[in-house]
Amino acid sequence: MKRYNVAVVGATGAVGEEIFRVLAQMDFPINNIVPLASSRTAGTDIEFKGKNYRVLELTESVFEEQEVDIAFFSAGGSVSAHFAQFAAQSGAVVIDNTSHFRMDGDVPLVVPECNPQAIGDWKNRGIIANPNCSTIQMVQILKPLDDAFDIKRVDVSTYQAVSGAGKEGMEELVRQMQDFFAFKLDESQPKVFQHQIALNVIPHIDVFMDNAYTKEEMKMVNETQKILGKNVEVSATCVRVPVLRSHSEAITIHFANDVQVQKAIEVLKNAPSVVVVDDISKNEYPMPLISTNTDFTYVGRIRKDLYRDNVLHLWCAADQIRVGAATNAVRIAQKWIELEG
Ligand SMILES: NC(=O)c1ccc[n+]([C@@H]2O[C@H](COP(=O)([O-])OP(=O)(O)OC[C@H]3O[C@@H](n4cnc5c(N)ncnc54)[C@H](OP(=O)(O)O)[C@@H]3O)[C@@H](O)[C@H]2O)c1
Repeated sequence: MKRYNVAVVGATGAVGEEIFRVLAQMDFPINNIVPLASSRTAGTDIEFKGKNYRVLELTESVFEEQEVDIAFFSAGGSVSAHFAQFAAQSGAVVIDNTSHFRMDGDVPLVVPECNPQAIGDWKNRGIIANPNCSTIQMVQILKPLDDAFDIKRVDVSTYQAVSGAGKEGMEELVRQMQDFFAFKLDESQPKVFQHQIALNVIPHIDVFMDNAYTKEEMKMVNETQKILGKNVEVSATCVRVPVLRSHSEAITIHFANDVQVQKAIEVLKNAPSVVVVDDISKNEYPMPLISTNTDFTYVGRIRKDLYRDNVLHLWCAADQIRVGAATNAVRIAQKWIELEG
């Protein structure tokens, strides 16, 4: 079996560290692994399958020097904007976790459970984009329901964990909780989030756009349409909550025709990477505590609208660092290998 030289750009970050764990757990066919980060952490070591690898500084030439075949990028949009082209030009396939290339006309935006064919179909310039973390778990649920019942409109509210803002987001919540118990939360200045996140929820993720939606909300609209390949109406409200890890979402789905709850549950039970947890008699439904550190999107609270027979409401939770980033990226790489071979 062919083995690949794999680079992880942003190796010391929340997503980068998870990519190493997923690669090891999935026993990805690796010849050499190259951790890349900024000059701040270059020179430190990263452990992978019992061996230490030195973190190298990201440079324009490192992909060629290290003969990289597959480059995972998760170091922010501006880093991908500048460096991804050097990886692609050196012959590597780039799998990008940032938002930079997602809506480019010649870059496939892929969730392997939904549109794996996009990897081969799209005229692509050696770059494959990983969707936004909130989009991935939502489309894993929407795609099978759309295939079965034809979706016309989706309204979603997200409950997004602080780790969606990287390691610094988690540190800010923990520090503010410590300050709360030390009776000095009043002195604590927010740095990562716009307001105090401990004991609060913030209906504001990424920047506001001219249309009064945030960029995060518009990512969910545009990316869902690109992945499903249809102009389904989507409206999103994205909210940061004081949860360390795993995003949750309340989703209302409008179908072309009437839908029975039991039939929708059957469809979701057969959907790849989706687990139905829905037994209200036992208080069983998806929660971040269930989804964290797993590769599944959990769905429950599946119920009919009180007024319309063509509308369902449901609730889901998924680990956004794995399902919403690292696992999806590695699954894309596995699909790419399958297609390449
Ligand atoms: N967190 C999530 O749930 C999530 C989900 C999906 C997508 N994403 C996306 O993934 C990307 C990374 O997110 P994260 O949460 O992992 O952030 P993070 O924890 O803050 O980590 C950022 C990583 O990028 C590296 N980096 C920053 N500037 C760099 C530069 N100029 N050159 C080279 N490396 C640089 C950092 O290296 P140093 O340690 O050297 O500073 C670190 O390894 C972002 O674009 C984010 O939007 C995140």
